Amino acid sequence: MTAPAARIDALRRQIEDANHRYYVLDDPAIPDAEYDAMMRELEALEAEHPALASPDSPTRTVGARPDGGFPEVRHAIPMLSLANAFEDPDGGDDDRLRYREVAEFERRIEDRLGTRAPRFSVEPKLDGLAISLRYEHGLFVQGATRGDGATGEDVTANLRQVRSVPLKLLGGAAPAVLEVRGEIYMPRKAFEAWNAQALARNERLLANPRNGAAGSLRQLDPAVTRRRPLAFFAYGVGEVEGLDLPPTHSETLALLRELGFPVAPEVDVATGFEGLIAYYRRIGALRDTLPYDIDGVVYKLDRYDQQRVLGFVSRAPRWALAHKYPAQEQATVLRAIEIQIGRTGAATPVARLEPVQVAGVTVTNATLHNADQIARLDVREGDTVIVRRAGDVIPEIVRVVEDRRPPGAVPWSMPAACPVCGSELVREEGEAAYRCTGGLACGAQRKEALRHFASRRAMDIEGLGEKQADALVEYGFVRSVADLYALDVPDLVRMKAALDATTAADLLQAVADSRGALRLDDEARALLEQDPPDWRRAEFLRRHLQVDPAAGKLATKWAENLVAGIDASRRTTLPRFLFALGIPHLGETTAKTLAQWLGRLEFVREVPAVVLQALPDIGAEVARSIATFFEQPGNAAVVDALLAAGIRFEDEGRPDPALRERLGLAHLLAALPVAKLGDKSAQRLAETYGSLDALLQANASGWAGAGASAAGAENLQAYLADPAARAALVAADRAMARLLEAAPARERRAAGPLDGKSVVLTGTLASMTRDEAKARLEALGAKAAGSVSAKTSFVVAGEAAGSKLAKAEALGIEVWDEAKLLAFLERHA
Ligand code: IVH
Repeated sequence: MTAPAARIDALRRQIEDANHRYYVLDDPAIPDAEYDAMMRELEALEAEHPALASPDSPTRTVGARPDGGFPEVRHAIPMLSLANAFEDPDGGDDDRLRYREVAEFERRIEDRLGTRAPRFSVEPKLDGLAISLRYEHGLFVQGATRGDGATGEDVTANLRQVRSVPLKLLGGAAPAVLEVRGEIYMPRKAFEAWNAQALARNERLLANPRNGAAGSLRQLDPAVTRRRPLAFFAYGVGEVEGLDLPPTHSETLALLRELGFPVAPEVDVATGFEGLIAYYRRIGALRDTLPYDIDGVVYKLDRYDQQRVLGFVSRAPRWALAHKYPAQEQATVLRAIEIQIGRTGAATPVARLEPVQVAGVTVTNATLHNADQIARLDVREGDTVIVRRAGDVIPEIVRVVEDRRPPGAVPWSMPAACPVCGSELVREEGEAAYRCTGGLACGAQRKEALRHFASRRAMDIEGLGEKQADALVEYGFVRSVADLYALDVPDLVRMKAALDATTAADLLQAVADSRGALRLDDEARALLEQDPPDWRRAEFLRRHLQVDPAAGKLATKWAENLVAGIDASRRTTLPRFLFALGIPHLGETTAKTLAQWLGRLEFVREVPAVVLQALPDIGAEVARSIATFFEQPGNAAVVDALLAAGIRFEDEGRPDPALRERLGLAHLLAALPVAKLGDKSAQRLAETYGSLDALLQANASGWAGAGASAAGAENLQAYLADPAARAALVAADRAMARLLEAAPARERRAAGPLDGKSVVLTGTLASMTRDEAKARLEALGAKAAGSVSAKTSFVVAGEAAGSKLAKAEALGIEVWDEAKLLAFLERHA
């Protein structure tokens, strides 16, 4: 075989393989841009060596033959393809060079027709898949894919599920036959929503809207197609019988609109080369904001009589041209997968790429969403990947080119530790994302943490706005919130100088302008002249930028005020402090509950989740979140540092005596994740043994004898066989004991105002939760009951109280509204 023959052969095989994967499997292997390049090389070789041309070359055929999943449909009029034109980036500013292929296309038409500046229908080139809809006597009877142009697949049932495909022609038009051709596509919003949902449910993502449309339409179950948000735009007609078409394509599109078909709103007419290029630019500028993906625009000679003069070459008309935009998908090499920590600690894998131009923008990073997505795509470092960028969406990796995987590439897995702070990365049940448990000690979370810490409802540090908070973290003055308390006026002046200067030259200027208030040593000047990228870092500024506050205004009022604000925040309250720590799920109300019930920070820090869960309005998730936060050594170190910096609480007190009613051995046992060991069994065990130590001396048969169910006792024995579980229970018991020990004995009031009263709470209160109201009434001596009876002393009824209120009224029992409750509590506070 000669060299060109071998190359032609190789190209044909590669293109056929790509066709099969794209059209039949809906699983393209190579980026479109590479496919186009191979096609053009093949066309050029065949033109150069006519003897090597062949009628079944992919340059003469369209798409790929169907693979048999659906019945075949022969198209009465073949569904053709379009010749493509690309931009020549070397063409410079001269449009006739830059868009040479368009110029040649237009010139050829002018020459054939013998007229200047013919008129074209100009349309967006939708990136979906071509279909033909057949209407007989006004009714939709058959819909088919393009297939190889001559034979497609019958997907009528699926097309009936697409809302924008009319089932009946509008306006009573009922030609014997009308075939409408157009594009099925997935709107971009729908595509993004679909993928967001798939991501949350841990399902496979659609690679791009075109793939989504093709895959959806070729579902064997039409119900599946119905759930996919597909749409249709008409762009032409096939066989027509019993209807006189208008003399131009643009009028035909208008007619199709009248018959009920959606036509892309961007379609227009344009004349001559300049008109075509102006349209190309206009749509190109809109491309990112269009609600659907397009890969180019299409120019079609508008008058049918002129189209007939031009005719066809092999697989495409000479009167039409697809002018392509830079591809939205490109292949590049994935250098590394790195973990980025978001402000809530979510760990997102990010792809670092060999820089690549995608749709006119250089892309170096792409999102990989989460660990499951990486596993699904099986992306590995070193892989060649397809990157997609469309609209304003963050570029993403849509697939791997497996044939180009370097030997030795290994599957990726989520690291165990946060790359920023080294804390454990954990994945909560049912969540797709891993999270860094480092909290305040993690650099990536510091900015957000500092903003929150300083905010009005937290530590309320005056003068520390979000911009300054970010800068303090960014330049390294503040690593953890505790560092705030070590800042002095010169530090803040240095940071301000850095914040106001965006280049090293700006900083030199500021120094010159400061008339001695700022001084730089020679070493720093030398470094700045090289413009080192990290000249703003705290180490650099502290070492090299001397501040003389006495020498002028530069020791700004702002810095002094901020230092005073930071200082003032040292005296605070326990709820503010707890809220300021930014513990997930810990809001202001929970912070107040913790402070009120536990009294001191040390108890909040040390009690385990089961104890926290015994407090009003603290559920299992919140309790776990709080306990986990304080268990992290990084967080503990920050809290210690804050205390060492002199933070004091005005309101620390002793734990609430009422804890005794909420806590105890029975509570600990009932909270264990042991099946068949319910509240009643826990109660009996606690009464029999009196202490955890005594209980642990016994075994399952003893526990069963003490009133636990046989199964519950067995399960408890199995649970405690794990030394870690046993140790955790003992630790919880000890922490609980210390807490209760610190609680004062309940003062036996000579007469609590509600001693001996039985109250029932119902409905929703505006000013506090029902649990809180109950606790406060109990503190005044009341017993709270769950249901209304003749013995009930009074009922507290909030908003939307129901049957309990009705019963109280029926029994003639006193009812308090919220105002009365508040007034009473106020009087007895
Ligand atoms: S006209 C004879 N118009 O591009 C002309 N095609 O390679 C046949 N396409 O398979 C096509 N938007 O799927 C035409 N406004 C448009 C189009 C369009 C998208 C697709 C179509 C076709 C491919 C041509």
